Amino acid sequence: MDVLVVEHPLAQARLTVMRDERSDSATFRAALHELTTMLAYEATRDAAVDRPAIRTPVTDTYGIALANPPLLVPVLRAGLGMADAALSLLPESSMGFVGLARDEVTFEPRAYLESLPADLTGKPVIVLDPMVATGGSLEHCVRLLCDRGATDITVLCALAAPEALRRLDESGLPMRIVTASIDEGLNEHRFIVPGLGDAGDRQFGGM
Ligand code: PRP
Repeated sequence: MDVLVVEHPLAQARLTVMRDERSDSATFRAALHELTTMLAYEATRDAAVDRPAIRTPVTDTYGIALANPPLLVPVLRAGLGMADAALSLLPESSMGFVGLARDEVTFEPRAYLESLPADLTGKPVIVLDPMVATGGSLEHCVRLLCDRGATDITVLCALAAPEALRRLDESGLPMRIVTASIDEGLNEHRFIVPGLGDAGDRQFGGM
């Protein structure tokens, strides 16, 4: 499984704002938005392109256009805070939604929404979720995508735990992860350490 860590200082500065417990919700959301732009930019560096013929005010030439715009899939709730930024950078994208909540006792994901196209054959998919902790939520989401025929799946996240990366690698599911950090690990509550707390609560308040 390919894992790309975006170490650009501008990305790390946004992640630092997100980690800082003094950042209020508006500040956290703004930093996540900007970080998502950078993650999406790096993730699409090798995207397939077409060379459309265009005319400048001076002459005929060829340009560049994305050959196959992706399906964006924010994982609710926390992934919603990444959706606008990804859609702005990839305006030709379509969007699907998966709603998952992690059970606080078993730590297993519970699905409450699956709004995805029935056939994803040949469609690049970009999953948006700020945090990959045990990897259970992401594994569940990627299985939904694979069941619909997706094989080109990229995950954008702010943080990933090494435990999750091992689990996802062992799952054999086809995915590439683009993250701003691989943190130290999980604590007894399966929270990422040092992490940033709960990205859904930090953005939208507790439930
Ligand atoms: C968080 C996060 C991931 C998941 C990661 O969501 O946004 O979806 O937990 O944990 P895992 O890797 O151990 O599965 P949460 O369940 O807190 O829901 P929320 O986005 O609605 O806050």
